Amino acid sequence: MFVKKLLICLAGGVVAVGCGTQSYVKNSGITRKAASSPESYSRNIQTLNSIPLFQGLETRKDNEFDIASVLIGIFNKIENESKNADNSLNRGTHAKGRCFEGDFTVFSNEELKNQFRYSDTLINRLKQGFFAQDGDHKAEIRFANAMGAKNPDTVADVRGFSFSVETFGDLKDHSGGFRQDFMMNSSPMFAVNNIQEFLELMKTARLAGGDWDYFPNPFYLKSVIKAKRLLDQYQCADTKSYATEEYWANLPYSHGLRPDGHPVDIVKFKTTPCDGQGIQHESSVGKSADYLQADIVRRAQSGQVCFLFQVQFFDLNKAKSSLKGQRSRWTASDWIENGGELWEETAMPFYTIAKIELKPESSREISCEDRYINTRLHSNRANQPLGSIARVRTMVEENSRARRMMEIR
Ligand code: HEM
Repeated sequence: MFVKKLLICLAGGVVAVGCGTQSYVKNSGITRKAASSPESYSRNIQTLNSIPLFQGLETRKDNEFDIASVLIGIFNKIENESKNADNSLNRGTHAKGRCFEGDFTVFSNEELKNQFRYSDTLINRLKQGFFAQDGDHKAEIRFANAMGAKNPDTVADVRGFSFSVETFGDLKDHSGGFRQDFMMNSSPMFAVNNIQEFLELMKTARLAGGDWDYFPNPFYLKSVIKAKRLLDQYQCADTKSYATEEYWANLPYSHGLRPDGHPVDIVKFKTTPCDGQGIQHESSVGKSADYLQADIVRRAQSGQVCFLFQVQFFDLNKAKSSLKGQRSRWTASDWIENGGELWEETAMPFYTIAKIELKPESSREISCEDRYINTRLHSNRANQPLGSIARVRTMVEENSRARRMMEIR
């Protein structure tokens, strides 16, 4: 009975935790796909695969590319199963959402000292790579559900928050562009620790949905049960607003580069509402199917959307003390390759470095259909997502992007 319940739950929504074509104001747009061609898909995949690993920190398992191709096959099926009435494809996950132009402001040394009382040492540690570019940056922002279907907002789900920020000067990303992309979920950890566990989770979910093409490896049943527990905990039906949630990027990033090319620090990111009230919940019983969509548009127009962007520094000794058994002997590389694992906030706190705002005078709603986010393609070496999940997910996401933009089938 329990396994049957587990499989039914998994069939619904796995990716987070553990998501009409509206043409509004057309603009040059950071995340807008310039020219749609099959070439850009293969070029992007080539670029993703050519990003060098950080020696001593990242280790690619031999079957990593096999896992990527099986996952791409699974997401092709998910996308085909949730087509729109006009036969167009949605995003493989986080299918329903709203997009806006906004502002990403990196705080200066003075602001960090005066407003947050940070020491010079902490400020120098925070202001690395992209985060050393003070002031306002143009940003494009998307709030979304997490499942791969455009469900009513009253359906229990994790919420997604993704944004792309324009960079200045010569800070180019791996695609040769000038942007830094972020994707976040309203859950402090990812549903699984590494890409092998993610594959087994997806195979279990497919089998639960009656797809006999996949047989999960029973050795991973423990991580699947853990994912189920996290889904139960973070899939909420009482989201008050996208603007009153906290969001986490879940995966580790390099933060600054030493002269030998090694990262200065390894970090994770979080966003929290500027009003300091954290997460607010409110029952959605009796609310409309699009209450979150209408709410975020209203708040954007009245300047009620503001988040502090925060950084958490990795500390191996503190991380070790938060885990028991074999994992307490994890090396820094193990923590990076198992990037979905939680870094205890009590042991490793978050520090503010920037804020994201939708200012009524400068933010406007934009179309989501011709936009995309890719956290690895659009990152620079000093601010780059690391580990097995970060490497493989960006290939699956690129595949989903290219299919819904009709570059590939
Ligand atoms: C193996 C892990 C993952 C896989 C396979 C995956 C897969 C996907 C896919 C297929 C899309 C749609 C891309 C598009 O069509 O443009 C997507 C979007 C997204 N993912 Fe993931 N994802 C993974 C991990 C994560 C993680 C760790 C987070 C955040 C903590 C995340 C947050 C998001 C968000 C917010 C979007 C919406 C992006 C947008 O607004 O366009 N995903 N993901």
